[in-house]
Amino acid sequence: MCNTYNEFGRRIASLRKEKGYTQEKISSMLNVTPQAISKWEQGNALPDTLLLPLLSKLLNVSIDYLLTGESSVGKAGPYDGEYQKEAFYWGIQPSELAEQIVDILQGDTANKRLLDVGSGEGRDAIYFAKCGFQVDALEISTPGIEKIKQYSQLSGYSVNILHADMIGYEMSEDYDVLYSHGSLQFLPLEQRRKHFDKYKQRTKLGGLNAHLIFVEKPFVKMAPDWEKNEFFYQSGDLARYYHDWEILRCEESIIDCNSAGVPHRHAVNRIIARKINATRDGF
Ligand SMILES: C[S@@+](CC[C@H](N)C(=O)[O-])C[C@H]1O[C@@H](n2cnc3c(N)ncnc32)[C@H](O)[C@@H]1O
Repeated sequence: MCNTYNEFGRRIASLRKEKGYTQEKISSMLNVTPQAISKWEQGNALPDTLLLPLLSKLLNVSIDYLLTGESSVGKAGPYDGEYQKEAFYWGIQPSELAEQIVDILQGDTANKRLLDVGSGEGRDAIYFAKCGFQVDALEISTPGIEKIKQYSQLSGYSVNILHADMIGYEMSEDYDVLYSHGSLQFLPLEQRRKHFDKYKQRTKLGGLNAHLIFVEKPFVKMAPDWEKNEFFYQSGDLARYYHDWEILRCEESIIDCNSAGVPHRHAVNRIIARKINATRDGF
C-alpha cells in the first residue's frame, strides 16, 4: 500500500494509544470490527469517509490533522475538553499581571491596541477590553474561542478574535501592549528568539510587553497536565530577551495551581518591559 495509507495508519495508532483506547474499544465506538481498525493501522485500508468526523472527535484532533498530520488551527488543544464544559476553567477574574498593566498605564488605555497571545477563555482579554483597550485575542482552541465569545456576550465587552496558531503567526499590526499569560511555553525552543524579536518589533515605541512564563526548577515537580508540546523556560531567559528595554518588573515566584483538579505548584517568571528604542533584529 502507498505511503499515505501507512502514515495515516501510524498516526491513528499513535493517537489511539495516547488516548488509552484498545482497538476493540475504538471499533465498538465506531461500530466497525476490530479487524477494520487493525487494517487501517497497518496501512492496508482507509476508513469510510463518513466515519472521519466521529473518528476525529474520538481522537480529539481535526479531520485535517487526521488526514495530513499537519499541526494546524482546529487541532484539538490541551484544554479543549475543559473549555467545552460550562464552567470557566481559568475563572473570569483577571490575572494579577493584567491588572498591573492597567495600573501602570494609569487609565491611559483608551484605544490602545493590545494583543493577548493564548487568551484561553478570555478572562484577561475581556478585562482589557473593559478597561478601554482595543483587544486582539489570539487563541488556537476552538472551544476556547467559543468561550471568549460567550464571555464577551455576557459582559458586553467585545474583542477581536484571532483564531490562530501563535507559532509562525504573522502580525500585521503594531501594538501598544503585547501580552501573554501562561501560554508561551507552547513555543518550541528553536522558535523562541524569532517570536520574541517579532513581538518586540511589533510593539510601538513606549509600548509594553508583559508575559508570565513557566520556569524549570529542580525542586518543583512537573504539573500533572504538562503536555509534550510544552517547554520550560530557564531563569533569566525573559530578562535576556528584553535586555535592551526598560524593565518595569521581572521576578520569579512559586504559585499554586489546581488545573486538572490536582493541587500543584509552578515556578513562574513575570516580566513587564517598556520599549524605549527601536528594536534591532537579534537583540
Ligand atoms: C495555560 S492557558 C492560559 C490561558 C489564558 N492566558 C489565561 O491565563 O487564562 C494557555 C493557552 O494557550 C493556548 N495555546 C496553546 N498553544 C497555542 C498556540 N500554538 N497558539 C495559540 N494559542 C495556544 C491554549 O489553548 C490555552 O488556552
